[in-house]
Amino acid sequence: MKKVVLAYSGGLDTSVAIKWLKDRGYEVIAYMADVGQEKTTTAAIARAKKAGAAKVVVRDLKKKFVTDYIWPALKAGAVYEGRYTLATALSRPLIAAEQVAVAHAQNATAVAHGCTGKGNDQVRFEVTVQILDSALEILAPVREWEFKSRQDEIRYAQRHGIPIEVSKKSPFSIDKNIWGVSIEAGVLEDPNTEPPADAFQWTRGAQTRNLKEAVIEIEFFKGVPVGLNGKKMEAIKLITALNELGSRYGIGRMDMIENRLVGIKSRETYEAPAATILIQAHKDLEALVLDRELLHYKEGVAQKYAELVYYGLWFTPLRSALDAFVRTTQEKVTGTTRMKLRKYSAYVVGRTSPYSRYNESLATYTVKDKFDQRLAKGFIDLWALPYKR
Ligand code: ARG
Repeated sequence: MKKVVLAYSGGLDTSVAIKWLKDRGYEVIAYMADVGQEKTTTAAIARAKKAGAAKVVVRDLKKKFVTDYIWPALKAGAVYEGRYTLATALSRPLIAAEQVAVAHAQNATAVAHGCTGKGNDQVRFEVTVQILDSALEILAPVREWEFKSRQDEIRYAQRHGIPIEVSKKSPFSIDKNIWGVSIEAGVLEDPNTEPPADAFQWTRGAQTRNLKEAVIEIEFFKGVPVGLNGKKMEAIKLITALNELGSRYGIGRMDMIENRLVGIKSRETYEAPAATILIQAHKDLEALVLDRELLHYKEGVAQKYAELVYYGLWFTPLRSALDAFVRTTQEKVTGTTRMKLRKYSAYVVGRTSPYSRYNESLATYTVKDKFDQRLAKGFIDLWALPYKR
């Protein structure tokens, strides 16, 4: 029998997909990747077995996700179309790469995913699989099957004894991991409808919460966050702590119209408290230690990097080359950024680094001034020279 490794989330689509693949003659291995999505795996494993999975494989990818995907993106300053901090997009190449490894370990000849034919995620999964092992067959049941609606799928699940979680069924499509939450569909499909309070998964309570201003300090070493409020902290703990704190303040909400790779404009709402805080803190520290030309050049790299991530081109030569560039830019991005948190916003109020290029005796307007203002005249004359008439 042909073996397929299905990227299984525990939700309705991929639960139904198990049975659907089995009916098409495959032995199904349900593969669950833990990227910090806070799902209860026990119920999901039971559901996979009920649906007919021969085996369930669970992989904890959180550490790898942070070290090999999130930190490089943070160092690059990657943000898509000015706002999306790429939580979903960054997780896909990792989940797919590990899926290929599981397929090899299990002697499977096929992989499958539960993405629709309209989104970016199908592209990210399949491009990654094709790059890493083009011999694997790729199956996309949701793109092919006959179900027209969620109701159709529920009926099919009930008919085949697949337990479904009706209780916490959300009217939204939600993708969650340690770097943020992506929320779409339901009433959000009207771009002019304000996201209702219950659309938010992490920051919901902020609206009515009485909040005092908070001050936090984030320490970086070579572009990587290593400490919070004067204490060294391990990566996952640090991100989790900032997500919890930031969520209380409602920080990192984004509501945007974005351009999908497949040409559709879509309305997506995001929550990314830790990502929002860290990207801002990191960028501010860079402004202190990098010279002007490097800083400006790097802004272009950040945009390109974000596009590569968004477009599913993680495992490509350009991404590796940009990573190498970014790595050298981070040599001196060591120091501390101090931020204030208020309801719905986080902003920088101070920064310090042993590699600071800020020179107070040049910038000052007091008697401590060391800048020779007479030199400015000659500089300006030469600067204007090519254009003068
Ligand atoms: N628009 C985001 C992206 O393409 C998120 C996609 C998944 N969103 C969701 N709500 N299921 O990266």
